[in-house]
Amino acid sequence: MKKIIIAIDGLSSCGKSTMARQLANQIGYIYIDTGAMYRAVTLYSLENNLIVDGKIDEEGLKKALPSLVIEFKINEETSLPETYLNGVNVEKKIRSMHVSKYVSPIAVLGFVREAMVNQQQAMGKKKGLVMDGRDIGTTVFPDAELKVFVQASAEVRAKRRFDELKAKQGEADYNEILANVVQRDDIDMNRAISPLRPAEDALILDNSELTIDEQNQWLIDKYKEVISA
Ligand code: DC
Repeated sequence: MKKIIIAIDGLSSCGKSTMARQLANQIGYIYIDTGAMYRAVTLYSLENNLIVDGKIDEEGLKKALPSLVIEFKINEETSLPETYLNGVNVEKKIRSMHVSKYVSPIAVLGFVREAMVNQQQAMGKKKGLVMDGRDIGTTVFPDAELKVFVQASAEVRAKRRFDELKAKQGEADYNEILANVVQRDDIDMNRAISPLRPAEDALILDNSELTIDEQNQWLIDKYKEVISA
């Protein structure tokens, strides 16, 4: 069967990763969460004094960036991919509110985007890939055979992230999460390089009212339509 590239973009915390991961599992494709790559760069910056008092040391990060190795490895127990930074599993750390606060300002930087996009394009050379992010259909793979843009209201997305963090970490603050979601939308949509927007040929999915099963089914149906065309 022909292999394609599936690009899933959308607002933060709108369930992109859930549907992308599920589709990749179902059809035997590789799944790449590009947000995790920007989060790993942010974690590295926070842990290496490249963000001090909220200010990014751009020159320092530019120097360090080529030495950063970001990889995904499957956790044998959960069968889910986890993020590694320089050989260390950082999956839990990169999901913290602390990293979420600084990730959009890091993702604005042109040299960071260029490095991440180069790595992402290399991952797609053999196709058979589901990649989610903000600029996958517009910049990383403008020729992707299937492009989806996912959206949901800020309140619905904040509630989902609240539930996720509470389950993982035992506590979470809904109002802080909502403020972070709104702020990240603003930065992601208004940045100069690769601002978040649907590709012209993207299918738009608003999943505010959909269950996870419904959105997964919607995506698999779209995949089948493309593959059988
Ligand atoms: O999907 P996420 O919340 O884990 O993404 C974290 C941040 O990374 C998000 O605020 C924007 C940025 N990002 C990006 O600029 N481009 C991508 N392809 C993926 C994420």
